[in-house]
Amino acid sequence: MSIRTLIRGGLVITAADELHADVLIEDGRVAALAAHGSAAAEAWTADRTIDASGKYVIPGGVDAHTHMELPFGGTAASDTFETGTRAAAWGGTTTIVDFAVQSMGQALRQGLDTWYDKADGKCSVDYAFHMILSDVNEGTLKEMDHLVGEGVTSFKLFMAYPGVFYSDDGQILRAMQRASGNGGLIMMHAENGIAIDVLVEQALARGETDPRHHGEVRKVLLEAEATHRAIQLARVAGSPLYVVHVSAEEAVAELAAARDKGLPVFGETCPQYLFLSTDNLEEPDFQGAKYVCSTPLRPKEHQAALWRGLRTNDLQVVSTDHCPFCFRGQKELGRGDFSKIPNGLPGVENRMDLLHQAVLDGHISRRRWIEIACASPARMFGLYPQKGTIAPGSDADIVLYDPHAEQVISAETHHMNVDYSAYEGKRITGRVDTVLSRGELVIDRREYTGRAGHGVFVPRSTCQYL
Ligand code: URP
Ligand code: ZN
Ligand code: ZN
Repeated sequence: MSIRTLIRGGLVITAADELHADVLIEDGRVAALAAHGSAAAEAWTADRTIDASGKYVIPGGVDAHTHMELPFGGTAASDTFETGTRAAAWGGTTTIVDFAVQSMGQALRQGLDTWYDKADGKCSVDYAFHMILSDVNEGTLKEMDHLVGEGVTSFKLFMAYPGVFYSDDGQILRAMQRASGNGGLIMMHAENGIAIDVLVEQALARGETDPRHHGEVRKVLLEAEATHRAIQLARVAGSPLYVVHVSAEEAVAELAAARDKGLPVFGETCPQYLFLSTDNLEEPDFQGAKYVCSTPLRPKEHQAALWRGLRTNDLQVVSTDHCPFCFRGQKELGRGDFSKIPNGLPGVENRMDLLHQAVLDGHISRRRWIEIACASPARMFGLYPQKGTIAPGSDADIVLYDPHAEQVISAETHHMNVDYSAYEGKRITGRVDTVLSRGELVIDRREYTGRAGHGVFVPRSTCQYL
């Protein structure tokens, strides 16, 4: 039986508009919006009315970069699809796009099926997949076409991690050529991994083993060089390009220069690069290991360029790159050798709040908050307008956000399955109050009412941002 839900009296914010409107939900979709107090809205009847007065009514967040259960460095990311999507819901994110992994020698099919199995029946919110290509060959290039056909329309390649995920320039070019034919979007981890491995070896030989050296060897210039090279390869192939986890001012400059030429080049940054810095990597007693990720955290001075890029649309998306490893037993694997610290930070629960804080701090506008966290990731990855907005016909993935609530981020209170928070003690104004996924209450006034298995796989169309 279909339940009609009415969300009444809130300020509806999308990437395009802000309006005091009531939202009618039917069969899991937005049926209509009407100005609050209008005759149309007053005439609506519903089985359930949710009072949103004093709250923002925003689209559920779309986090286009997560790694639930990712095997990495002899261990695996500590959030499962069950714990990770529950935490996402708590943080106002109602869709994740996770990275299925092709291991060396494996078919894409095998890697993707493993990810379908991991997620099936476990998720509190909806999910989709990108595919990591670790082994570009004739077979896997052909498979890319099939994946695009089944809604896995983006492919991550790595210029970093030789011997693990790394592809050489020839393989990258081939994958880009294939994507230019089948409509797939190439996502690039842009760091010169071959040069970085030399610097890692030299640093360790000098006895430089602490976490801060992770940031020092993964140089800004090696991110900028790889970003430049990826852009040129994409131009040669005639394919669009999306650069993931951009952290350095010089890499933003490469993207901006390409976009000024009118090239279809896009970039994503992550909250850790906007709010954290090499100061964190330098924390004593191996605490810096909590902040080891790649690309690495940069000196604070880079943050202004990232915020500027988000305002000028040289960067289009903020995703989390959520890839949590517990400090105890996981990050600790790299005591005495920073190169053995598993790379990645937790954050799927914190993104919407941190970006709301950025609104209050004057970095971005409210609508830009929704654009970079909901609408643009949905458009970039072929999910719009099903996801990323509140409009008739859209999935009723809706967050009631209290813009005045005060909170302090802490591992004591978060829901991610990880024993520390990268933002421990940070004060935030604003908090998720209620979350609906396809019209079902997942968080009801700060209580979890969702269930594993509610979330379903969402096939995606090709990039809608071109
Ligand atoms: O450190 C990171 N980013 N870990 C996840 C894997 C990746 O490169 O995105
Ligand atoms: Zn990466
Ligand atoms: Zn990642």
